[in-house]
Amino acid sequence: MDERIVTNHELKEDTFEGTIRPDSIDEYIGQSEVKENLDVFIKAAKMRDESLDHVLLYGPPGLGKTTMAYIIANELGTNIKITSGPAIEKSGDLAAVLSTLEPGDVLFIDEIHRIPRYIEEILYSAMEDFTLDIIVGGDSSSRNIRIDLPPFTLVGATTRAGDLTGPLRDRFGITSKLNFYTEEELKEIVMRTSRVLDCSIDENAAIELARRSRGTPRIANRLFKRVRDYALVLGSGNIDLKITKIALDKLKVDASGLDETDYNLLKSIIEKFNGGPVGIDALASSIGEEVTTIEDVYEPYLLQNGFLKRTSRGRIVTDKAYEHLGIPNKTKLGE
Ligand SMILES: Nc1ncnc2c1ncn2[C@@H]1O[C@H](COP(=O)(O)OP(=O)(O)OP(=O)(O)O)[C@@H](O)[C@H]1O
Ligand SMILES: [Mg+2]
Repeated sequence: MDERIVTNHELKEDTFEGTIRPDSIDEYIGQSEVKENLDVFIKAAKMRDESLDHVLLYGPPGLGKTTMAYIIANELGTNIKITSGPAIEKSGDLAAVLSTLEPGDVLFIDEIHRIPRYIEEILYSAMEDFTLDIIVGGDSSSRNIRIDLPPFTLVGATTRAGDLTGPLRDRFGITSKLNFYTEEELKEIVMRTSRVLDCSIDENAAIELARRSRGTPRIANRLFKRVRDYALVLGSGNIDLKITKIALDKLKVDASGLDETDYNLLKSIIEKFNGGPVGIDALASSIGEEVTTIEDVYEPYLLQNGFLKRTSRGRIVTDKAYEHLGIPNKTKLGE
């Protein structure tokens, strides 16, 4: 994975995750609609003494899907078992986790879109009827066996809901999309992190950090950590606006939260493709990135903030992008 400071992927250095991760719905900042709904469904499930319906959480990396999965289990007062799409290679892998479940438990499957198709089918009956149908033995001696499972809640997380098959998507009773956070919400997250880590930050510095965090709590927390280092070494330990700006400039995160890779991407469309439209494959090879990385990691924020547009013929950069990069829009001069 890349080494960008503003990468929204989880990095090894995000070790303080455990301490700053909110563990109740009340502490989870933002995403109010998702929270309100889940809160009602969780309470209702508890009142009926039933397991919560299966939940699908989707949205760009770093917005709090894993955090929400833990919170759901916490609020239900049950255990959480964790696995991921790529970790389930054989049907036995899925059977192994399913067989550890106790009544009401949460099974969290991260990157659920990466489960192999034929294993998905085993999941269907597990989700629908709480039964596990597996084939044991080989060749002539093979037979089907059916194992009853306790009622459980599957929480699936994915950055690409579109990659899920229809039948799998249909088996989730609750589907929640997480959106980018507002500046105000990110500021609150930064202030909360400052309290948890016991490192003070001025309000205007928290706003600046929030503004440059691409709408993403994971990035806000990571920038906080780096800025905290600068404050300790260059200042008194308190994070003020001046230190924040120095640190973020050194980290090459600009006033809108864009970094070198974003500049590369936008510049490449302008310089090599005349501003677009350009197909995603051509764009990916021109900047040496994977198509999926562009689609999942870079593009959502650029689209949301109007630097980039998606048309049926490909991606185009917007006037805002030309302006932001300080490049005159030549395609417009002839108009
Ligand atoms: N609503 C929130 N309030 C406070 N902190 C949050 C919130 N959402 C996420 N965070 C923080 O952001 C970080 C990243 O969240 P999380 O790991 O849940 O993201 P994710 O959506 O699972 O990402 P990925 O797609 O990469 O798995 C965590 O450290 C968590 O503490
Ligand atoms: Mg996660």
